[in-house]
Amino acid sequence: MKSSNQLNHNLSARIDVIQGDITQQQVDAIVNAANESLLGGGGVDGAIHRAAGKQLLEECRTLGGCSSGEAKITKGYKLPAKWVIHTVGPIWRGGNNGEDDLLRSCYRHSLNLAEKKGIRTIAFPAISTGVYRFPLDRATKIAINEVKQFLRENLSFEQVIFVCFGDDSYRCYFKNVSELVPLRGIKN
Ligand code: APR
Repeated sequence: MKSSNQLNHNLSARIDVIQGDITQQQVDAIVNAANESLLGGGGVDGAIHRAAGKQLLEECRTLGGCSSGEAKITKGYKLPAKWVIHTVGPIWRGGNNGEDDLLRSCYRHSLNLAEKKGIRTIAFPAISTGVYRFPLDRATKIAINEVKQFLRENLSFEQVIFVCFGDDSYRCYFKNVSELVPLRGIKN
């Protein structure tokens, strides 16, 4: 039987935080922080559509949009990633309008969809923390806790990478992963 230490160790090896551009990640799937139309936008959504090429928009047009907290999948086209999972984060409206639950739901639905497709490695941006103005630290804790729970329940899932676009985001993720995922970096 595995001790809780071994479980934590496994968890820490399967969660990574990097600073960079999600469109460059060599993983099975990248997650897009989209809007309900799924027809592109600015921020990470714009970057993913530019890097994937026009075929991504063509496929997105067939999906009929996506509600906040839900997720849909397309191919990755010109991206290194084979798949793009599009999820729609909540717009921050002060915090008492179900924002936390909706954000949790984005991570959970994205990961469940990935699992169903046989995806084993995935990269997430900091959903809702840009244009949608969700407070970064609060969003980061939700992201990490939801991923932890999923990885504990899905032992064959290999890697979740949090891709941070700026220094603030990287520092925030690094601090929270160090606190919430014990034994990070220790190999024994
Ligand atoms: N790689 C990784 N992260 C990125 C990249 C990138 N290339 N570009 C931006 N980001 C980061 C931002 O710095 C932010 O931390 O992604 C995070 C999410 O920011 P947004 O892209 O603004 O997403 P969100 O806050 O969820 O707002 C969604 O923005 O453009 C639209 O169509 C999108 O309307 C939707 C809204």
